[in-house]
Amino acid sequence: MRITVCENYDEMSKKAAQLVLAQVTLKPNSVLGFATGSTPLGLYENLSEMCSAGQIDFSNTVSFNLDEYYPIKKDDPNSYNAYMQENLFSKINIKRENAHLLNGETDDPEGECENYERMIGRVGGIDMQILGIGSNGHIGFNEPDSVMYPYTHITHLTESTIKANSRFFSSVDEVPKKALTVGILTILNSKRIILMANGAGKKQVISELLGDGMKLNLPAALLKLHPDVTLICDKEAYPK
Ligand code: PGA
Repeated sequence: MRITVCENYDEMSKKAAQLVLAQVTLKPNSVLGFATGSTPLGLYENLSEMCSAGQIDFSNTVSFNLDEYYPIKKDDPNSYNAYMQENLFSKINIKRENAHLLNGETDDPEGECENYERMIGRVGGIDMQILGIGSNGHIGFNEPDSVMYPYTHITHLTESTIKANSRFFSSVDEVPKKALTVGILTILNSKRIILMANGAGKKQVISELLGDGMKLNLPAALLKLHPDVTLICDKEAYPK
């Protein structure tokens, strides 16, 4: 794992944006894996500015988001569909039909997950996957559990994730208890992975991730099996 420790959140966001720029410049039809949450907001702001300035062109890129709450309406302001529209897709020139998200409105979540996995396979997998990390070590909504699912699936959120994400909702009871998420192997099959973490709240989990061995109750530890992972974090999240 390559590690880049940045002075602050802004620098972390700019560094990540430079990596996306290099990826899309070298391969204009890149398949990008996008994440949601607070962590990548600065990255998306940088990409939006770069796109407006004509420095990056997303017109031939394809994207797949990691996860979505279930059930949730696409136009619910807390859906990741709405998040991506607001923070990135409305500000860059990606074709809407090329920007894929799991459908939290479906009546057939299993079929939705199978279809999503097939679509990722059909375009040859993800070239560059952007990841945040939960303070419990989840990546996407692959939560610490006794069972890991390799491919896109429906899952239950842990109490700690529901509590952490309740900051975006008016009350903890409104947070959906389930989600659709790409699986661990879907993530590990990406050619390149950029893991981002910022703030003192992530220091403990990054410390566990960078420690010896691979902790079994830390889904992010599986990233150690991947040959091309770059961790970009700020000083506050870096344990040393
Ligand atoms: P955050 O979430 O970026 O809001 O901290 C990260 C995650 O849960 O993957």
